[in-house]
Amino acid sequence: MCGIIGYVGRRAALPIMMDGLRRLEYRGYDSSGVALVKPEKVTVIKSAGRLSVLEGGLDYDTNLETQGIGHTRWATHGAPTDINAHPHTDSSGKIAIIHNGIIENNRALRTYLEQKGVTFQSDTDTEVLAQLIGQLYDGDLEQAVRLALREVSGTYGIAVVCADEPDLIIAARKGSPLIVGVGQGEHILASDAAAILAHTTQVVYISDNEMARITPDNLRITTLEAIPVAKETEEIEWSLDQIELAGYEHFMLKEIYEQPESLENCLSGRIDLAEGMVHLGGLADCARELARAKRIIVTGCGTAWHAGLVGEYLFEELLRVPTETEYASEFRYRNPVIDDGTIVIAVSQSGETADTQAAIREAKQRGALVLGVVNVVGSTIPRETDAGVYLHVGPEIGVASTKAFTGQVTVLALIASYLGRRKHLSPTAAAQFIKALSEIPDQIRATLQHASTAKQVAQQYANRENWLYLGRGYNYPVALEGALKLKEISYIHAEGLPAAEMKHGPIALITDGMPVVCIATSGTQYNKILSNMSEVRARGGSVIAIATEGDRDIQDVADHVLYVPDTIEPLQPLLTVIPLQLIAYHAAVMRGCNVDKPRNLAKSVTVE
Ligand code: M6R
Repeated sequence: MCGIIGYVGRRAALPIMMDGLRRLEYRGYDSSGVALVKPEKVTVIKSAGRLSVLEGGLDYDTNLETQGIGHTRWATHGAPTDINAHPHTDSSGKIAIIHNGIIENNRALRTYLEQKGVTFQSDTDTEVLAQLIGQLYDGDLEQAVRLALREVSGTYGIAVVCADEPDLIIAARKGSPLIVGVGQGEHILASDAAAILAHTTQVVYISDNEMARITPDNLRITTLEAIPVAKETEEIEWSLDQIELAGYEHFMLKEIYEQPESLENCLSGRIDLAEGMVHLGGLADCARELARAKRIIVTGCGTAWHAGLVGEYLFEELLRVPTETEYASEFRYRNPVIDDGTIVIAVSQSGETADTQAAIREAKQRGALVLGVVNVVGSTIPRETDAGVYLHVGPEIGVASTKAFTGQVTVLALIASYLGRRKHLSPTAAAQFIKALSEIPDQIRATLQHASTAKQVAQQYANRENWLYLGRGYNYPVALEGALKLKEISYIHAEGLPAAEMKHGPIALITDGMPVVCIATSGTQYNKILSNMSEVRARGGSVIAIATEGDRDIQDVADHVLYVPDTIEPLQPLLTVIPLQLIAYHAAVMRGCNVDKPRNLAKSVTVE
């Protein structure tokens, strides 16, 4: 979604801000802009379209201002036009603002301001805030922003500058992330660590309902009520090379190939093979309460929801605790039953997804203990949950989630094993499970050796507009995930189904040569899915099977076979998803799609 950058220091702000905006591109946007500040003057340059369009209108030689704010906008209120792009100014042109989020009472505020004689230039809710701050400005920008925010309902991460108060950025946050990078005689404000990493790893996280007064040499955080807040400077654990392409053509491909290492990081220090134990420091304080849970609700959106579905199967099998996986967007509005003993596990790569945040709030309000399974350290969800486990898979830049999915499944497997040992799981069973988990990174390495087969399959079927993905048991969520990957980056229509459901309707779709991906690894339902594959072939469909290494029989019922190493059924999703990620990637490349920035999509969905 939208991205924020702000610089105040002694270097020229423009190149720093443009580099930051480029690093935020992955979040998804449709217009961009910057405001450069010098005494008496704010210069705003903005345009619809890609950053290259904005770049065309910039002059790095003359725009040497040492303070500015920049933004990538993903349109919500008003079309993605030049006028609606951020920054927005008040009528005096001296105050400029960039904003992530939605001002929900913007219509009422707009009417109020119009009655006071304000004329608006854009259709945005953000300009309403700019004008409101302008009306309240009386020589003290911080106070004007504070007063304006009291009138506002909705969500925001904002950065505001004023020509009459150079060397100052006022930032505020409610529901939309903001961090401040701390440098030598400079501060860099951003909505995402990726925009800051090239300059510093020292950051201060701004929390909800806080404001920051940022000058080159000083950073002061207060609550919206002006109460000072003491903040620690923290170290970002990500490195710059993790957010760069490192020779790969796309971040998605890089992140697919990073999975062996990212899962090693995820497992590091958490499994004890000798003892057959899992250690999860983030759950230690509530382990007893968790082990007593009578019901588990896993919630999330998109890929995180698919990982949650694998978690549901894992928890029921290893813990024998009834578990449901719910879309966060449904859970938050549907009056869910939360009894004593219900725990809620929120899964999210970004830790910022609006629906997941709302589901957490709903669950907490109803008294549930809420855990977070999140990748981005310092994001909102870990702050709002009672306890949790980070993925530690490194930054995921590609919009299509890959290593986050395998990280989420791995963490859910760790939690299942951790709690399982406190319930029904015998030491031997736990040790076997953990050993199998520890082998997964190398097994993914082996799976990636067969990447060329996935590419050939993608090339052969990339022109087909409809695909089906079938799986059973633990591989049913993988079928959903494979279909999601294909549709979001290649714009091919794909449906994931529990294989048995095909006969209840979707089988009517199968026509000659239609690609049907069948996940048919060894296990309890192997023969069942072989029957489904035969049914597909009998109707002319082309079967692309994901099978266990050594299974030659499957070649009789499949047109193509992609092999993965053998593992226990609960962990198969960690391997079977790999060829599906590769197929989606290569199909999208074949179709000339923008793999890392698919149309209409944002990396982190911070609005409803
Ligand atoms: O950051 P989150 O994990 O909360 O994001 C949830 C979904 O928006 C996300 O998984 C989305 O479905 C991905 N683009 C799928 O690849």
